[in-house]
Order: sequence, then C-alpha cells, then structure tokens
Amino acid sequence: MSIKRLGIVVVGASGDLAQRKVIPALFALYCQGYLPEDFQIYGLARTPYDQEGFRRKIAENLTCRYTPGESCAGKTEAFLSHCHYCQGQYSSSDSFLDLFQLMRSVEGDGPVNRIFYMAIPPTVFMQVASAMGDSGLVTCGDREEWLRVVVEKPFGRDRATSDALVQEMHKVFTEEMTYRIDHYLGKEIIQNLMVLRFANIIFEPLWNRHFIESVRIRWAEPVGVGQRGGYFDGFGIIRDVMQNHLLQIMALLAMDPPANLEAGPVRDAKVKLLRDVLPVSMNNLVVGQYGPSESGQQPAYVAEAMVSPRSRTPTYAAAELRINNPRWDGVPFLIEAGKALDERINEVRIRFRKVPHGLFERWGTVMQANELVIRIQPDEAISFEIMNKAPGLDLELIRTGLNLRYQAAFNALIPDAYECLLLDVIQGDRNLFIRSDELAAAWDVFTPALHQLESGHVVPERYPYGSSGPAAGKTLMSRHGG
Ligand SMILES: NC(=O)c1ccc[n+]([C@@H]2O[C@H](COP(=O)([O-])OP(=O)(O)OC[C@H]3O[C@@H](n4cnc5c(N)ncnc54)[C@H](OP(=O)(O)O)[C@@H]3O)[C@@H](O)[C@H]2O)c1
Repeated sequence: MSIKRLGIVVVGASGDLAQRKVIPALFALYCQGYLPEDFQIYGLARTPYDQEGFRRKIAENLTCRYTPGESCAGKTEAFLSHCHYCQGQYSSSDSFLDLFQLMRSVEGDGPVNRIFYMAIPPTVFMQVASAMGDSGLVTCGDREEWLRVVVEKPFGRDRATSDALVQEMHKVFTEEMTYRIDHYLGKEIIQNLMVLRFANIIFEPLWNRHFIESVRIRWAEPVGVGQRGGYFDGFGIIRDVMQNHLLQIMALLAMDPPANLEAGPVRDAKVKLLRDVLPVSMNNLVVGQYGPSESGQQPAYVAEAMVSPRSRTPTYAAAELRINNPRWDGVPFLIEAGKALDERINEVRIRFRKVPHGLFERWGTVMQANELVIRIQPDEAISFEIMNKAPGLDLELIRTGLNLRYQAAFNALIPDAYECLLLDVIQGDRNLFIRSDELAAAWDVFTPALHQLESGHVVPERYPYGSSGPAAGKTLMSRHGG
C-alpha cells in the first residue's frame, strides 16, 4: 500500500546517530523518490535550536550523491523545508504534547503515518516510552494510520534485563509496532548472504558438516574507544559487537532455508538456529583488554576518558561457538572482535574440508582448503579461494581467488545500511529487524559467560594497542587452522 502522509520523529535529534546517519539516510531516500510527497521530519531533543539553527545543523551532513547534475543547494533547501524542531525533555509528557501541537500546526488534520526513531542513549529509552504513552500519542491515531517505533541496540545487558526491557516497552508499543535495528543487517553484502546461499545451486549441497571444516567471523578496528569510553565501559565488546552484529551474521550463514522470504519465516529460521547454539562458556572464550601502544603514543583502555582505571571490561573477545544440530554438529564457528588492533576488517571465512585423497601430493604439493571469503568492510568483496595449476612447465599448484569486488563489479552506489533499513520501516518490511524471541535466543548464547566475566574473577589478557590481539586469542583460532 502506498503511503500518502508520513511524519518521522527523531528523538535525540541533536545527537551523533541522528545527525550522521538517520537524517542523511532520510535525505538519500528523499533524493531517490522513496518518501511520499507529503512527509515531515521532526527533531526532538533538549538542546535549544530555533528552526533555522536546526536546519543548518542538519545541512552539515547532507550530500547529494544520488542526484548528480541536479542543483544540490535546491534539493537540500527543499528537503530542509520539511524539517522541524521541538525542544523538550525526554521524560515529560508535556514535551510530547508540544510535539503533537507542532505536528498538527504543520500537517493540519487528517491521518498521518508516524515513525518514532529513538536515537537516544539506552538510559533514556523507557522515559521516552512512558512519556509518549502518558501523552496519548501512541493510541490517539485514526484506524487507518500506523505508528512504528525504531529502537537501537543495546537491548538490555543480558537475558533478564533484555526480557524486562521488552516487557516494559510492550506496555506502550506492541511488538508489531517495534522495529529493533541492528544496522549490520542493512548492509548490502549482509543482505546478499541469503542470495548467495539460496540462489546458487553450488553452495547449499556443501553447506554442512560434511564439507565445511570451520567458519570464522572476524571484526577488528584499529582504534580504541575514543570518546565512547563511558558507554563502552558499561557494555564491553561482547555486548557491543558479538551478541548482536556477529551473531546475526552467524544466524544468516547457518540457518536452514526459510519457507519463503516473508519476515515471519526468515526470522523463524534465525530463531531456530540461535536456539541450537550452545551457550558460550569460559572454556571456549578468550577475553582481552588493550594496554598502551608499544610507542606509548596510544593510551591503555584504562587510561581512556570516562573509563574506570580498574576496569576489567573486555575490548577483545574470541569465542568458539558450536551449533547443536545435524547440519553443523562438530563444526566450530569462531567469532572474534577487537578494538585497538592492527587492522580494520570485518569478514567471514568459510573453510571447506580438504580434498580427501592425495592425487597431487606426490609432487610435494601441500593441498590447501577452499575458502569462501566474504568481506563486509572495508571494500565489500566476495572471493572463493580455489586450487589452480600455476602456469609453467612444472605441475605446481597454488591457491588463488575468484574475486568479486563490489566497487568494480556493480556500477552502482552502495546504499548506506540506514537508508535500506529506514525504507523497510516505511514499507513495513520487518525482515531485517530483530524480533523479541530472536533477541532472547541471542542473549542466551552469551549471558552465562557475561555473568562469569562480571563475577570479577576473570582478568582480561593485556595486548598492546595496535597489535594483533592477545596470544590466547591466536591459540584459540590456531586450534582450527586460523
Ligand atoms: N552513533 C552511532 O553511530 C550509533 C550506532 C549504533 C547504535 N547507536 C545507538 O543509538 C543511540 C543514540 O546514539 P548517539 O551516538 O546519537 O548518542 P548520543 O549522541 O550520545 O545521544 C543522542 C542525544 O541524546 C541526548 N542525550 C545524551 N546523553 C543523554 C543523557 N544522559 N540523558 C538524556 N539525554 C541524553 C542528547 O541530546 P540533548 O542533550 O540535546 O537532549 C544527545 O544529542 C544509542 O542507543 C547508541 O547506542 C549509535
């Protein structure tokens, strides 16, 4: 059904996420004609701006990459004329009534579909939800309008707090209204995972314990926590990256084919898989924390702003996950995430078993396994490492890659994850959003280990800022040829 009128409220509109991601993504959708003609964007936050000041702030981050040749200034001005600001307090229902007055003065009467994007710290979530509920904003609409609320991770700290948050949110918003974002799922190459697996005949017959030796999912960043120390110290790398982004990637890689591509069956398939993942224990988990760089120029984690000097929060973790089902029995899924490492990379390596007989070995060739490598960032690419004969008079085998580099292969702009996800919210496509039972199953994988870590007995292994990570992480990976 096409949408005639749309009002998008960005709560926390002064913040980093709103300014750098959410509003620029809405501008990109506008430039490509995906927003209805009658749309309005409302910012709500405590910072005082007048309308012009708010629009100037938004304009700082808008780029006209989808409309080359058109007047960028004209496009920007036209978009900004749809943007409005309401200063208010997050816990005050009066602020939401002020917002409602503003919306009505801009839109006039008649039904308007609404999206509330919660671009606020998790500590403020419930205040906003309650104030919205008290103001009557959630229930006052006509029958033909809908209201959707978009929430960002973190969704709790463990299974119990996540369940409590879900229940509290449900007092105000139904599950149908709730869109829990994991922006990794909006990335082009992540969306390609299902296509790669299920639209190519060659993979599915091999996609099991008989042909796959191990799966490795790696996320590394060359920078420390910077200005995010206050947030990060309360969460750590497992909650920040592993329990959500990496586990979602694993679910898409390992789930059974869904019955169809509707949101229900896809999310059912992911939940089924996540419920089969055995909880991580300290026997198959390594944690680390960065110390100063060897040159002394980069600080130790515990010397970062807003981080406790006695903090034991992990900035690195590596885990060997096992999936207790017939397809994956015995196959290690190695997931690793770290900050302040020696590279920026996020990739998946699916290592196949080696060819079982030594036809070429009498030439002294060491056979290597085939690997399917999916690089999520930087520079999206898929490559398939296969054995080949090296050109020449001798029979020498080398492993080389069949490469698909997105930039070179597709002559198209790759949309930002937020563009894709916001369009899905507008269109009511829930496929890429996390359902509450999926969230619960994902927490179950990590909650026991998180509790053990927080009992205070586990000291993360130090690694130098800018290094390849703690030695124990390498040992864990090398157990499986990593
Ligand atoms: N930034 C990202 O790239 C990113 C990526 C993934 C997820 N997220 C998640 O998205 C949410 C928003 O992230 P963000 O980076 O935009 O956060 P942020 O900049 O720290 O906060 C957004 C806005 O919330 C208000 N705020 C900040 N701290 C507050 C506090 N203690 N009490 C009340 N209001 C406060 C501020 O607005 P006023 O002072 O004007 O009210 C601020 O501009 C968070 O849940 C974050 O975890 C962010």
